[in-house]
Amino acid sequence: MIQQMPFSYEGIDGDVQRLGFLLKDSLSACDLNFDNKISVLNLACGRADETGVLVNALSPARVGFYLGIDIRADAIEEAARRWKSTDCEVYFMEGNAAMLGRMKTLPEFDLVFIRHQNYWHEPMVWEGILDESLLAMKSNGLLVCTSYFDLEHDLFLASMRERDAKLVLNVRNSKSRYLPDAEGKSVDRWIGIWRKI
Ligand SMILES: C[S@@+](CC[C@H](N)C(=O)[O-])C[C@H]1O[C@@H](n2cnc3c(N)ncnc32)[C@H](O)[C@@H]1O
Repeated sequence: MIQQMPFSYEGIDGDVQRLGFLLKDSLSACDLNFDNKISVLNLACGRADETGVLVNALSPARVGFYLGIDIRADAIEEAARRWKSTDCEVYFMEGNAAMLGRMKTLPEFDLVFIRHQNYWHEPMVWEGILDESLLAMKSNGLLVCTSYFDLEHDLFLASMRERDAKLVLNVRNSKSRYLPDAEGKSVDRWIGIWRKI
């Protein structure tokens, strides 16, 4: 993955590097077992700053198709300007993640990644997003999410318990950077990984 322009804010470089290590450690603890080039969906991706470290963390699996979706057009436009690849199809799309099923040309995904999921903010919307995410995945595919704070992560875990997915890893990130203006929140504070049954 080629990063064509620097990140927009100070501190992002460090955050994404730490996330890269967390993803590498966490994914290597799961039996990835990906044979061919894989397809990755980065859902509610915002600017998708983590695109490079996410693809690297999946190595030795090779990503052949990478799609980022967010409802915010400005963030998607920035992501599309930042990330290119010569050996992987990379797309960023403005869209509603709760409507994935209506996007008929999408491949089935090996992995869905949701960084800083926002379940707490709009539970009913996120119920729809999780339904659609699992439908968009291959069986045995992985859903990976990170969360900013404990309650939000617990709510996400509870919602996933009701679904056809098995929790394979749930870790509090000890290297997470605290956010001084948001008590109890820190960057990529939790990571959870589920396998679709
Ligand atoms: C907490 S932010 C996380 C953004 C990014 N993943 C990150 O870690 O920087 C949550 C994101 O969810 C997006 N979002 C909320 N509802 C959405 C929906 N229905 N479809 C797509 N994106 C949505 C927001 O626009 C926002 O970018």
